[in-house]
Amino acid sequence: MKSSIYITRRLPDSIVESLEAYFEIKMWEEDTPVPREVLLRETQNVEGIYCLLTDTIDEEVIKGAPNLKVISNMAVGFNNIDVEAAEQRGIVVTNTPGVLTETTADLTFALLMSTARRILEASDYLRNGDWDTWSPMLLTGQEVHGSTIGIIGLGRIGEAVARRAKGFGMNLLYYNRTRKIEKEEEIGIQYRELNELLAESDFVCVMIPYSPSVHHFIGKDELAQMKTNAILINTSRGGIVDEEALYEALVNKQIWGAGLDVFEEEPVSLHHPLLSLSNVVTLPHIGSASVKTRLKMAQLAADNIIHVLNDKSPLTPVNS
Ligand code: GLV
Repeated sequence: MKSSIYITRRLPDSIVESLEAYFEIKMWEEDTPVPREVLLRETQNVEGIYCLLTDTIDEEVIKGAPNLKVISNMAVGFNNIDVEAAEQRGIVVTNTPGVLTETTADLTFALLMSTARRILEASDYLRNGDWDTWSPMLLTGQEVHGSTIGIIGLGRIGEAVARRAKGFGMNLLYYNRTRKIEKEEEIGIQYRELNELLAESDFVCVMIPYSPSVHHFIGKDELAQMKTNAILINTSRGGIVDEEALYEALVNKQIWGAGLDVFEEEPVSLHHPLLSLSNVVTLPHIGSASVKTRLKMAQLAADNIIHVLNDKSPLTPVNS
């Protein structure tokens, strides 16, 4: 008999077909997050859950699914899953690292450039009919080349951002929980303590995975240490930055701007104060959103389930 799996969102046909070859599938057919009660009901008898970062797979879901063997997240971040509860039950949790590294670094850099050079503001300016003449200081932003970027978290994506920054002639700094001496020479990046990095960087890029221990890692005190011309970029998880403190720092001109692809609550409310500021560029969590990369992530998440439920080692487990 085929194992059964639950998929929490409509996936591209090719991915569904690759899973159908092995499993009995049930899928939430809408392109909206599956309602909690449906998730709890539909996962009761399954061996595998294929989920997205919008699904909370907590102890209640895990306890309610006694046959569950694998939870496969179509994302590199997995803070939506209670990995400890899964581990206690011997359930494998997998994510999709690697395949999205370069694409997410591209977007991070695009966001950095857009914020520094006021691209969206300038585009709106033109379309609103405000463009009367070329003017010496019109829509002037911050210089990217020759500036200093401070990368907080030198993991795969942090390193890929550093390589791009190097190509732009930027001076590279990083802070990481553990220093990565071998990377320093390889990439040409220098280690700084967090307070030093904040004080020296023109761009502070947050590139760490979220866990409760890094909740509001960038808060009032950290923002106060940044330069007045500095720009904060966050493409990891919203909870890492204290949005209230960020708003205050932007309004009080403690820092110059921010580029955010992620928010404490997603989708972010249109009434969120940060959305009222012209020096904040906001994106709807699209770091890995290229067609190729999203298909690779979707396939890797499928392959992880196929492996585990066929008694093979998962390709990219987050737990042992
Ligand atoms: C996206 O944010 C991911 O974690 O893959």
